[in-house]
Amino acid sequence: MQIGKVGIVGAGTMGASIAVALIGRGYPVVLKDVDEQAVRSGMGRIDRLLDSRVKRGLPVDEAEAMRALVQPATDYSAFPDLDLVIEAVGEKVDLKKAVFEQLDDCCNIHAILATNTSSLPVTQIASFTRRPDQVVGMHFFNPAHLMKLVEVIPGLETSADTVRTAIEFGQKLGKFAVRVEECASFLVNRLLGRYMNEALWCLQEGASLEEIDQAACDFAAPVGPLALRDMNGADIGLAVARFNYQEYGERFRPPEILERMVEQNLLGQKTGSGFYLYNSETKKRSGPNPRVEDLLKDLKAKPEGDAQFSVERLFLPMINESFLVLQEKVCAAEDLDPALMAGLGLKKGPLAMAAEIGLSQCLKEIESLFRTKGERFRPAPLLKRYVWANRMAVIA
Ligand SMILES: NC(=O)c1ccc[n+]([C@@H]2O[C@H](COP(=O)([O-])OP(=O)(O)OC[C@H]3O[C@@H](n4cnc5c(N)ncnc54)[C@H](O)[C@@H]3O)[C@@H](O)[C@H]2O)c1
Repeated sequence: MQIGKVGIVGAGTMGASIAVALIGRGYPVVLKDVDEQAVRSGMGRIDRLLDSRVKRGLPVDEAEAMRALVQPATDYSAFPDLDLVIEAVGEKVDLKKAVFEQLDDCCNIHAILATNTSSLPVTQIASFTRRPDQVVGMHFFNPAHLMKLVEVIPGLETSADTVRTAIEFGQKLGKFAVRVEECASFLVNRLLGRYMNEALWCLQEGASLEEIDQAACDFAAPVGPLALRDMNGADIGLAVARFNYQEYGERFRPPEILERMVEQNLLGQKTGSGFYLYNSETKKRSGPNPRVEDLLKDLKAKPEGDAQFSVERLFLPMINESFLVLQEKVCAAEDLDPALMAGLGLKKGPLAMAAEIGLSQCLKEIESLFRTKGERFRPAPLLKRYVWANRMAVIA
């Protein structure tokens, strides 16, 4: 199916940046929010993003032509003409239900309805319509106009045609569009969750903030995990960590320090104080936050084992989870590393890391950590099979 005009429901952080990704490729967009003020605020976001492109060399007339592709809306009157609608309203199931019921009523019967949800089940969202075969997850990353990845997630009833159209559309936006089977947090955020938690466990067990962040950056990450936690907010981090724990169980148990940080309002950049301290005006980082050291004193009193900090330790849970993901056939093996690199800006993906460390060495370290730290290091059966088969890598 050819996609012409696209609707975006929700003109917030994601809706506005998805709109910029679309108009940058020439797609006309109807941008809908609840009232004039919300739509104006979304259009303001788009203007600011276009202005910054003009400052970096985009000709003014091209920016104006792009902006003219956006039709602001506070109702669904323009929606019968659309081929695809991308929903980007808040992450609440009742809200999604109301929006999808309405979209189902007012959109053309051929239109595809996509959700940008980060965590809600696509199958459940699809069930709010009479066209579950034409509902699909299109999970963009923030900011959507810059990030190269879109995860395309079929629900149980989504047709092959719908998935193909969503992937082709993602590619036309210049994205790496990867098919991901439905599972909690999907692919990239599921693996990210294991790594973010491990950084906090390492901190609780005595490694320093700088040691962890520096090691992660030297090895593969564009920004250290604790600096990243401060950027995204400890409150968001805790909600995601609790969700993963509820869905996957013990190996995703949130480290206590995260709860303490939220209790103390040490949320990161938005409160000027997280793992690091930030200048309230410039938002520049000024150094580690001494209050975190106080919080850690209690927690450090309960050592969990004797393993020293190492960068491998930081990434092993993500590597192990990658083998669980492959075992569950959540994505094609060749898509896994490119998706993680595009979604998180890693220099190399977890399967390349595993090959670099050595699969048998990974398994040895994971088994040893399993003995001292328990469930979060239970070795993935597929990793064991690769080692038994003497394979050096998953992707040759
Ligand atoms: N923020 C991120 O980093 C990120 C990344 C990937 C996915 N997501 C997902 O994208 C979705 C949107 O997140 P966000 O951060 O942009 O939220 P946001 O709060 O910034 O924006 C949501 C917008 O939806 C509008 N809205 C609410 N009900 C509406 C309705 N009935 N019709 C039209 N508009 C309506 C709100 O007024 C608001 O402007 C969520 O499902 C979230 O999980 C967010």
